[in-house]
Amino acid sequence: MKVRLERCRKRYLGQVMDIERRSFEQPYEREVFESYLGSDLFIVALDNDRVIGYAIATVKGVIVSIAVLPEYRRRGVGKMMLEKLLLYVATGKIKLTLRVSNLGAHRFYEHMGFVREGVIRNYYENGEDAFIMVIRR
Ligand SMILES: CC(C)(COP(=O)(O)OP(=O)(O)OC[C@H]1O[C@@H](n2cnc3c(N)ncnc32)[C@H](O)[C@@H]1OP(=O)(O)O)[C@@H](O)C(=O)NCCC(=O)NCCS
Repeated sequence: MKVRLERCRKRYLGQVMDIERRSFEQPYEREVFESYLGSDLFIVALDNDRVIGYAIATVKGVIVSIAVLPEYRRRGVGKMMLEKLLLYVATGKIKLTLRVSNLGAHRFYEHMGFVREGVIRNYYENGEDAFIMVIRR
């Protein structure tokens, strides 16, 4: 598999939405993705022309979302995308929130050097708490 990273273009949004729906209980709406189009911090991972992952960050140092197609997980794609975004957001504190139940992602972020900074109670619609994780650059 030869994976390349690119800025997300409009024509990839359908595939990004498919990954989103297959990855999250409460997927973001298409409009959320549209609002990040044009940003260097909205990237996709491509295997030939198939979108196999996406990641979004903001210039202020927030990781908005990252997901990889289930059948492509544990092959370094998430790491490749997050490393690229961390290069763009080069200084200061980079932050994200995730469900306390999302153990796989928790391990992933720890592997990438993030540490747990706190908990936000009742952060999600179903009442679940969120962990705040940070990395300093
Ligand atoms: C989190 C996610 C993006 C990771 O992507 P990925 O491409 O599978 O991750 P990588 O292959 O780059 O993993 C790098 C390292 O992180 C750790 N890791 C990743 N996923 C893990 C898991 N499910 N359990 C334990 N450790 C994990 C491992 O140390 C891994 O290295 P290894 O495979 O050599 O052991 C992917 O699991 C995913 O899309 N999950 C669903 C969406 C989600 O929860 N996103 C995060 C919340 S915003």
